[in-house]
Amino acid sequence: MKKIIVSGMRPTGQMHVGHLHGALLNWKSFQDDYRCFYFIADWHALTTEYESPSIIKESKIDMITDWISVGLDPNKCVFFVQSEIKEHAELHLLFSMIVPLPWLERNPTYKEQLREISTRDLYTYGFLGYPVLQAADILIYKANGVPVGEDQAPHVELTRDIARRFNYLYGEVFPLPEVMLTKTSKLLGIDRRKMSKSYNNAIFLRDEPKVISEKVSQMITDPQRARKSDPGDPSICNVYSFHEIYTDYQKVLEIGESCRTAKIGCVECKKIMAKNLIDSLTPYRERINELLASKHEVEDILSEGNNKARSVARQTMEEVRSRIGL
Ligand code: TRP
Ligand code: SF4
Repeated sequence: MKKIIVSGMRPTGQMHVGHLHGALLNWKSFQDDYRCFYFIADWHALTTEYESPSIIKESKIDMITDWISVGLDPNKCVFFVQSEIKEHAELHLLFSMIVPLPWLERNPTYKEQLREISTRDLYTYGFLGYPVLQAADILIYKANGVPVGEDQAPHVELTRDIARRFNYLYGEVFPLPEVMLTKTSKLLGIDRRKMSKSYNNAIFLRDEPKVISEKVSQMITDPQRARKSDPGDPSICNVYSFHEIYTDYQKVLEIGESCRTAKIGCVECKKIMAKNLIDSLTPYRERINELLASKHEVEDILSEGNNKARSVARQTMEEVRSRIGL
């Protein structure tokens, strides 16, 4: 029996290269060896976007389309939408009975986001319970592993605590899932901030070559390097981070050396990178266009995934209810 992994992504629109290297290619690397459940966490998005939820609906088909385009295979993975599987909500409710409040109040992501996000009121019941819902997402499929970025590790820890507590109270139902840490993507947005649609600094899988070239030409490089005659420092240059992924190894070394000795200018350096980036993303873009042309294909994949996920979730819930004595 293959081990089970579960991971989710909040719906934020089309996928960009930050998602590609921060999650999707990692997810893909597991699809042959694990039973994979990958889903769109639309209820989680609602914990922060409850005042303007329109992006959530718009994103769903786009995201699944983009996932498939990079080679995530619907014959190997189950793709689904969280809110289609109402059982997650029931398990969340039952967990909420047994989760001590201090576990949630001391959650580092909770404290950090309360501090940092000032544009929305996050003093809500749902937002405090964010990781309880996440635990339900994970445990309802009896996951053994959860591939996530470092920022999500505390939530997987909490998931283990909740599983342990449930098992202690009602008997062994849930395995304790391991966190499978994904290296965070080194690729920053074109303005050197974290790549994000909301910062308007992202390079999307769907961007046309012209658009990519334009964005790359706007990228901020080593900020100390004002003129071509100034030596640059590739280790702090975002263009160089892209080269490290998209340009072959020998050439990357060469570019690094030429940058440090001021033999190559940023304009030329960017042109080389843009070409390699475009070449690498083109197959994804083409696949996306094919999928968009046959609109039902992705919808059908999604409804099949929803059905598969739902049947597993139902089984777990029967067990859960009977253990509790409901
Ligand atoms: N909280 C995760 C994030 O923001 C998304 C998520 C929701 C998730 N449920 C999950 C990830 C279950 C892994 C497993 O990235
Ligand atoms: Fe960055 Fe390339 Fe310019 Fe060096 S030459 S600072 S690596 S863009």
